[in-house]
Amino acid sequence: MERNDWEERYSQRSRWMTSSIIREILKFAQQPDIISLAGGWPDAALFPVKEMDEIVHDALMHNPGPTLQYGVTEGYKPFRGALAELMSERGISIDEDNLLVTSGAQQALDLVGRLLIDPGDTILVEKPTYLGAIQAWRAYGAQFVTIDLDDDGMCTDQLEDILREHQPKFIYALPNFHNPAGVTMSLERRKQLVTLANSYSITIVEDDPYGQLRYEGDHIPPLVALDAAGNNGPGEKYLRGNVIYAGTFSKILAPGLRLGWICAPPDAARRLVMAKQGTDLHTSTLSQAIAYGFCQRGLLPGQVQRILDTYRLRRDAMLEALAEYFPPGVRWTRPEGGLFLWVMLPDGFDSVELLQETLKKERVAFVPGTAFYTDGSGHDTLRLTFASSPPEVVKQGVKRLGRAIANHTPK
Ligand SMILES: Cc1ncc(COP(=O)(O)O)c(C=O)c1O
Repeated sequence: MERNDWEERYSQRSRWMTSSIIREILKFAQQPDIISLAGGWPDAALFPVKEMDEIVHDALMHNPGPTLQYGVTEGYKPFRGALAELMSERGISIDEDNLLVTSGAQQALDLVGRLLIDPGDTILVEKPTYLGAIQAWRAYGAQFVTIDLDDDGMCTDQLEDILREHQPKFIYALPNFHNPAGVTMSLERRKQLVTLANSYSITIVEDDPYGQLRYEGDHIPPLVALDAAGNNGPGEKYLRGNVIYAGTFSKILAPGLRLGWICAPPDAARRLVMAKQGTDLHTSTLSQAIAYGFCQRGLLPGQVQRILDTYRLRRDAMLEALAEYFPPGVRWTRPEGGLFLWVMLPDGFDSVELLQETLKKERVAFVPGTAFYTDGSGHDTLRLTFASSPPEVVKQGVKRLGRAIANHTPK
């Protein structure tokens, strides 16, 4: 059968879906002699294998029903109770009605798309923003407008004008240790964002996969906590508000569990449950049992601490190496947490071209920044992760990349 026969069968939605040339290039990054500063993958050496082994054994022996049977779409109730406790540590009082367990934060973003986006709707995103969100929402026919980022996160001084002019369906925000930019939104700006969203009755979608990975400084309350405090009486649960918050176990436990959650006002949460039902019925009960066991045994803080101790050294190694090996004229962000930092190359550089050269000559991979822009700009930027390799490998990777930048002649 000719390919054209199929072309006519595809839905409009499938035509909105995009695949990335960068993903193609990065397939080379899997080769063993390449130092990858590219993917956002946690270090597999930090997976708590022994603890998980015990928890799985225990769950299968003592609780096989809920562990292996179909479950409810909202998620295993005791687990949602544990998630409510996790959220209370993040400064918000909620109960199970506010919560939906998802197959990773990525599914949370997709469900938000199903719930909120009609074809042609405008979504406000930061510039740059998370590639996976753009992909998810493009498939629903979304258009994007952008707001700038600086070292204090979203430039909220631009916000009101954009809201007035474009009336976006929702605002997508990554306040903590932004992917890809590595920056964190200040408390003052968070308050401005929440206040403006409130006065224009616009939803905020808060994506927070990295919030617990803070290597220095104090935690700043998430938008959802600020919003809840402003819209509900003291001590009241989160009944009224504008934020849909997405969390995940991918960076603090293991991404292969495909386990995340949504916290939202109950009405939105109920609707999201309906959206999920048609997608996958429910999130893996085995994965929920593992994470629940982890929470119940009080193992999460120790695990997060191990991750922090490891990644902090890697971040420091990268910052040191950047200062030592990168040529003048290159700038970068200084993340207080998370997995990434953002590099701004001198004018005229094209980081896709640079990547092709760097993979060949220096055997180092990174992600070209243009992938994170909805308008195809950002050619002179790139994203690095410091988390995937030990400090000496990170340093070696930065040294080679610095050499490639210094030797690169823009076309
Ligand atoms: C900003 C952001 N949102 C969502 C996700 C998806 O996370 P999950 O593995 O929970 O689906 C990621 C993964 O890297 C991310 O960086």
